[in-house]
Amino acid sequence: MGKGFFISKAIGVVGIVLGAGAVATIIALSVVYSQEKAKNVEVSPTGNPTTTTTTGVPATTPPSNEPWHKYRLPDSLLPVSYEVSLWPRLVKNAEGLYIFTGSSDVTFRCVKETDLILIHSNKLNLTSDGGYLATLSVLDGSKPPAISESWLEVRTQYLVVKLKENLKAGQSYVLRTVFTGELADDLGGFYRSVYIEDGVEKVVATTQMQPTDARKAFPCFDEPAMKAIFHITVTHPRGTVALSNGKDIETVNTTEGTVEVTRTKFAPTPKMSTYLLAFIVSDYISIDKMEGDVSIRIFARRKAIEAGQGEYALNVTGPILRFFETYYNASYPLPKSDQIALPDFNAGAMENWGLITYRETALLYDPDVSSNGNKERIATIIAHELAHMWFGNLVTLKWWNDLWLNEGFASYVEYLGADDAEPEWGIKDLIVLGDIHRVFAVDALASSHPLSSKEDEIQRPEQISELFDAISYSKGASVLRMLSNFLSEEVFVMGLSTYLNQFAFNNTVYTDLWDHLQMAVEKTGTSLPARVHDIMNRWVLQMGFPVVSIDTATGTVTQQHFLLDPDSVVNRPSEFEYVWFVPITWQKNSVSGQDFWLLKKTDTNMDMKVTVDQWLLANLNVSGFYRVKYDIANYNKLLKQLTTAHEVIPVINRAQLIDDAFNLARAKHVPTTLALDMTRYLNKEREYMPWESALDNLDFFYLMFDRSEIYGLLQTYIRRQVEPLFDYYKAETADWTKVPDRHTDQYNQVNALSKACSTGVPACTELIQAWYSSWMADPQNNPIHPNLRSVVYCSAIGAGGVVEWDFGWRMFKNASIAIEADKLRAALACASQPWLLNRYLEYTLNANLIRKQDATSTIVYIASNVVGQPLAWDFMRANWAYIFNSYGGGSFSFSNLINGVTKRFSTEFDLKQLQQFKVDNAGVGFGSGTLAVEQSIERTQANIKWLKDNRDNVQNWLKEFSP
Ligand code: BES
Ligand code: ZN
Repeated sequence: MGKGFFISKAIGVVGIVLGAGAVATIIALSVVYSQEKAKNVEVSPTGNPTTTTTTGVPATTPPSNEPWHKYRLPDSLLPVSYEVSLWPRLVKNAEGLYIFTGSSDVTFRCVKETDLILIHSNKLNLTSDGGYLATLSVLDGSKPPAISESWLEVRTQYLVVKLKENLKAGQSYVLRTVFTGELADDLGGFYRSVYIEDGVEKVVATTQMQPTDARKAFPCFDEPAMKAIFHITVTHPRGTVALSNGKDIETVNTTEGTVEVTRTKFAPTPKMSTYLLAFIVSDYISIDKMEGDVSIRIFARRKAIEAGQGEYALNVTGPILRFFETYYNASYPLPKSDQIALPDFNAGAMENWGLITYRETALLYDPDVSSNGNKERIATIIAHELAHMWFGNLVTLKWWNDLWLNEGFASYVEYLGADDAEPEWGIKDLIVLGDIHRVFAVDALASSHPLSSKEDEIQRPEQISELFDAISYSKGASVLRMLSNFLSEEVFVMGLSTYLNQFAFNNTVYTDLWDHLQMAVEKTGTSLPARVHDIMNRWVLQMGFPVVSIDTATGTVTQQHFLLDPDSVVNRPSEFEYVWFVPITWQKNSVSGQDFWLLKKTDTNMDMKVTVDQWLLANLNVSGFYRVKYDIANYNKLLKQLTTAHEVIPVINRAQLIDDAFNLARAKHVPTTLALDMTRYLNKEREYMPWESALDNLDFFYLMFDRSEIYGLLQTYIRRQVEPLFDYYKAETADWTKVPDRHTDQYNQVNALSKACSTGVPACTELIQAWYSSWMADPQNNPIHPNLRSVVYCSAIGAGGVVEWDFGWRMFKNASIAIEADKLRAALACASQPWLLNRYLEYTLNANLIRKQDATSTIVYIASNVVGQPLAWDFMRANWAYIFNSYGGGSFSFSNLINGVTKRFSTEFDLKQLQQFKVDNAGVGFGSGTLAVEQSIERTQANIKWLKDNRDNVQNWLKEFSP
């Protein structure tokens, strides 16, 4: 998501009519797995409530001290290996349900005497044997203790087996279960995905186990530290392909009763965690390649593979694998790497070991349809998931509280892997926009939280799901990048490599990585002001980040916890009192200075004093996770530099000066007019990063002012700034017939068009409408370049009426590649007629019209449109209980929804409504959106104050500069 939420950066262009590039913030990882559905009474595939037990013990007994009422497994039993057989049915049964049947034999070792076997099992209907839900045997064939009772504990998701005698420490046992489950369309566990091919409905049986849904596929010790070896066998219809983590080692045609089937057996996996398992049955086809002795295959729908949509993924995978082998100094741990694109998939991609699953938009590429942004997303997401094959899969964090290290690490090195595959893109710089700026916004709130959580604070599945947020991903990535920068990459990878070697096939806690980095520091004689642990603790254990104020007249450097709303109250005390160890890099005009560590609240560095004709710039390339504030004299010199020869300041820092200024202004550290002054040089700026940074920040102004008289002034000002960029690209592309060479120029061309059209540059609107009309006249021949489609569709549908909308909808439904469908889905939210938007909102709760995986982001797209915002809010309020209870399982990202729909809130009335919403739905709950409700209230309060303080200033400034 997130960024998967991570609607690609290029889709941010939808902001053209939506007003706010908020769309760009809908990240893929937002698609959080909520287990809210678990709260409902579940009905088994056979129609029996799974809450019944063999002993009549009520399944929802209130919590007590009994081990089965605790969410964590006891430490008495350790799994060694599993023999799992599964048979998914790809057609409905007599009751109209899709089901799977299966059996599992788990061998486990008893390490502490116990008369209790607790093993996770959720929503499975276990067949009873002799009156009990499982059968126990001893591995050596001796007589096992008898079972006294067995039942399912629904709340904590266990199969509980009580014994008449103790299991003996040191002895190994086998527990057999036979079960039936529903192959539901709920995107979690073993589930079904459906698509139409040549008019025929096709069903794919697939899995998504992370974080806690392996227990929904078969009974297992479903915690990441319970690593074991898995022997998987899948029974499937003749003519279909079965895939799993290992290579297939035996395929036989056989019969099950009267049904002709194929049975595929897979090579045993290495010792691994349950959340990384996968098994898939489909009639997909594949393309393949060898990279050394590793087999690489891309699987997708037959039509997609035949159209060549898997080629790009196949071509970049090998080089990226090689890159990580070198980076980690460890060979790829498996003999094969399969990657598969699924029509229904909740996240963006999932790093199942040896069988990575993707949503179609994250893997399939067609040069005639996909934009450069789509291509970038594919390269980075592949790099992200491949990075996990070692970091996360080979070496796994013990418990979910350390998730941030797993996801943050992959989110950092995805840029390195993708850069290796596409070196000319300059993609490493983009982490500043994609992760650092994105998470600065969240981590500056008083309701933020530290990267690290305590192990015992993370227990329930929904608490685990809540961790997949921007802090874990983007702050994790940002602080690891900072660490790699101040250690040097050489030292960083040295520590990384010994860490991976030492803990291969095992589990760790995050400080194990610090230990190994510290060893590398000592081995190389790297000089640091403190131990890696002590530096990093400050970034990992306290929430937020500092703003470093530099007084260039005296060389005084001071740090302070940066809060977007200076009046907000931080309820979370920090043992470090919100003081960080801050690595400060800087330059005076073009001359860089010696790095400086700020280790206390205030310090003085005489080298950072400047002369009258010098300016100082700090946090070069934003290698540190902090903002910088200067004295006014230094700001004036920097502003002068920007307006006279902006190229002297590095591109990333131009973007940073803008982002810091706007945010410091929001937090009342500098006047808002200073931030606006930073945008005055933009009529000469041609680079993507500063423009994107400015537009992101100005989007906040649009959100606050797009329903007021200031809107007109703002539009005039932006139009004047963007027109030269529009003209520049018109010339560069020979009147829009050529594609700019550089990757980031292609992005900035989209910015130019998007803003020129949304601010009403006539040449822009004419151009775009002509393109869309000519497509409508000849739907088989789309004349619009893939890079420009999002912006063109949105603009044309926004300017058009029902005819343009209906055409867009038809094209959405007919699209042969999900990437094209997604562009249209976003653009359909740009309509300006309320009835079209309301109709579209209704579609989001009909899975035949909008896939469940896309429902949240579609509602948020609509809310980003100034006309759609109140409609989406009413819709969400009116349907909350319905959405939460019947649509919640897995597919809805409640936090994205709540944050997305309320981001324009800026009046007392909005605030009252939001508070009322919280009260009204307290009984229903907010699940993984609980924190988002608080964040939205905090944001609304800050917006109210901001408007009060800034309305006049902004109006006056705009009057002065856009008369
Ligand atoms: N492990 C995650 C997928 C995931 C996310 C599983 C949330 C369960 C809950 C995977 O490695 C991941 O992070 N995917 C990202 C892509 C990445 C490029 C940020 C995603 O799905 O967006
Ligand atoms: Zn990940």
